[in-house]
Amino acid sequence: MFEQEVKKIIAKAAGLKEIEIALETPPHLDMGDYAFPCFVLAKTMKKNPVAIAEELQKKIKPDAYIEKVKNNGPYLNFFINKKAFNESIIKKILSEKENCGKGKASKEKVMIEYSQPNTHKEFHVGHLRTLFLGESLSRIYEFSGVKVIRANYIGDVGTHIAICLWCYLKFHAKDKIPENKGKYLGKLYVEGVKKVEDNPAYKKEVSEIHQKLENDDKQLIALWKKTKEWSMSEFLAIYKEFDVHFDKIYFESEVEKEGKSIAEILLKKGIAKIDQGAILVDLQKYDLGVFLIKKSDGTSLYATKDLALASRKFKEFAIDESIYVVDSRQKMYFQQLFKVLALMGFTKKLLHLPYEFVALKEGPISSRKGIMALYEEVRDAMIKKSYEETKKRHADWNEKKIMQNAKQITLSALRFSILKIDHNKVITFDIDEALDFEGETGPYIQYAHARICSILKNYGKKTDAKADFSLLHEPEEKELLLLLQQFPFMVADAKEHYKPALMARYLLDLSQKFNEYYHKHQILKEKESVKKARLLLVSAVKIVLANGLLLLGIDALDEM
Ligand code: ARG
Repeated sequence: MFEQEVKKIIAKAAGLKEIEIALETPPHLDMGDYAFPCFVLAKTMKKNPVAIAEELQKKIKPDAYIEKVKNNGPYLNFFINKKAFNESIIKKILSEKENCGKGKASKEKVMIEYSQPNTHKEFHVGHLRTLFLGESLSRIYEFSGVKVIRANYIGDVGTHIAICLWCYLKFHAKDKIPENKGKYLGKLYVEGVKKVEDNPAYKKEVSEIHQKLENDDKQLIALWKKTKEWSMSEFLAIYKEFDVHFDKIYFESEVEKEGKSIAEILLKKGIAKIDQGAILVDLQKYDLGVFLIKKSDGTSLYATKDLALASRKFKEFAIDESIYVVDSRQKMYFQQLFKVLALMGFTKKLLHLPYEFVALKEGPISSRKGIMALYEEVRDAMIKKSYEETKKRHADWNEKKIMQNAKQITLSALRFSILKIDHNKVITFDIDEALDFEGETGPYIQYAHARICSILKNYGKKTDAKADFSLLHEPEEKELLLLLQQFPFMVADAKEHYKPALMARYLLDLSQKFNEYYHKHQILKEKESVKKARLLLVSAVKIVLANGLLLLGIDALDEM
């Protein structure tokens, strides 16, 4: 608004069009808020820029938005009306509250597919990345006005299931099933993989199980259904814990048959061909290798099913775009898939959003190599740690309250530590770092929020939105106001680049600035007029922190 006003004034005084005007930010706060370099006018006005700046300065009169205009060499510096500026920012946030930063509702409808774990395998910390990224993007899209369908696609068929069930039947049929059944299956899978590696003769047995499963062998199907539920109930509990609600859960098993018939159609159309009994699409002329869509033993592949899934999504939900949040190690796979779909005449908008993996200090998580970071184990270790710390800070709280707080802090710390890293970068996960109240963490931001809540509580009275906003002139106040003003643009940026990490960074900056402010300046001990203006400023910070955290899937806490 102020920038536009400055441009308007210059346009009028210099006879330019507003779009021709590029403003700069002066190097120091005391040099004004916007600078107009007069060089661009030298040619038309046939004068040197210093003289032009001088001439324009005399021409331009201050108004409700602009307090002062000063020429400085070839620059014309504008000082905006602080009172009007401060007031416009703070009042907007205070009146919009939870809607602050929200975009206008549009007709656009997007499906975001994320999480997609495989049943019969362990759920580890790495799986959280697609979960958090997908959920945060869904929230950012929705907040921006887009209708979002949250989809999941569970890997409930395939070789890994055959390995797990084979291992169970061959070596563990008489086991007493432990309480955590999902975890038990994960262990069986890892053991099965090892066994087959050590004795390749077992491969045939696994393949038989796989074929039987695909041919609807009654007994095996019953076992598959039962065990699949074990994994599913574990996944659903995790989603509940993180407040993630899918609109649609697809299963690989439900698109298997359709996928196989698509493979046959591609063969008939000459898009695919048979090679040593298997069906594949040769994509070498696109530099994309070959894409296997049916195995020689007649069983399906990962790709077979994706061929069917893609169009189902559009048919069932009339979406405009389909986004897949999937590990970057599948980049080539998705290029191949999208190419084959295009060759089939599929013209809808598809996007693979790749993210890098999560590693531990010991190396990338790999159940095969025994570098494990089971979600549940990591979570419990973190809860234990934050429980101890909460207890230290709040000797007066009861057990239940301490535990609840510790749990909330753990979940937000986990979420933030994963979301704050750009999705193109590998994460090296570290429990202590994630929980550090002084570090770049979720708890750090939550703590800033809780601190503001406590200031407002100590003030005790209700604050109306009236204050003399010209009293906010400390440099830290100006910096806070500038950050607050940026919030809606940050939402738009995060959406455009698919990067919740930008929002995470912004919230860290805002919290840091608030903390600096808080340590340097009094709020409650000031005289009433200053106190009021400052209280309204920090109230606005509180709203923006809470809105931003919610976009990451994190609840702002009132006390910690
Ligand atoms: N379940 C798969 C995996 O663990 C990811 C599925 C991604 N989505 C898809 N449509 N292919 O690798």
